[in-house]
Amino acid sequence: MIHIKKIVELSHYMAGLIIKEGDYVIDATAGNGNDTLFLAEKVGPRGHVYTFDIQEEALVKTAERLKERKLDARVTLIQDGHEKLSQYVTAPVSAVMYNLGYLPGSNRQVTTEAVSSLESFKQALNLLNPGGMITVVLYPGHPKGSCEKEALLPVCNNLPSSDYAVLHIKLINQANDPPELLVVQKNSF
Ligand SMILES: C[S@@+](CC[C@H](N)C(=O)[O-])C[C@H]1O[C@@H](n2cnc3c(N)ncnc32)[C@H](O)[C@@H]1O
Repeated sequence: MIHIKKIVELSHYMAGLIIKEGDYVIDATAGNGNDTLFLAEKVGPRGHVYTFDIQEEALVKTAERLKERKLDARVTLIQDGHEKLSQYVTAPVSAVMYNLGYLPGSNRQVTTEAVSSLESFKQALNLLNPGGMITVVLYPGHPKGSCEKEALLPVCNNLPSSDYAVLHIKLINQANDPPELLVVQKNSF
């Protein structure tokens, strides 16, 4: 069963609808590795995941979890900012996942930022296969997260409907600005 209150679960559900075995995909924010593990399972042994994080701690944790599950061979871990996405990945991808904010249980000062998240998002749009999808989990309850939402929403609003479809999913009966989800799909027709 899916819990719609858990926005990260919802992002997996949405991305899971389009990822196929053998696909190339990107986790733009490794964190504790949950999204990378999900993606590595989905793409199977013939697919590949490119995972970014600026913090060594996040990539070490993600690497450990991948090794435990024998999924490490299908993932490239990149310690660099996702705003340099297109320097590392040039082949088209079917999914790019963002879970913005800070590494849970770590230094809250190290967080994603509006300028770099927006730059990365624009590069991700150019890497998508037809039918491919970007998911962005936003945290507007956090000051930096609110700036990221303000930066990304106008860009999403202005994406041409001939090329992309955009969903903005938010819980409307919860207190304290809960997480929100942006889903962008490149048209395949
Ligand atoms: C909320 S966590 C991600 C959670 C993760 N997806 C998971 O499944 O556990 C956000 C991560 O983004 C990373 N981050 C911050 N700025 C970044 C940047 N410019 N490029 C890539 N990662 C960045 C942080 O270090 C942090 O680990």
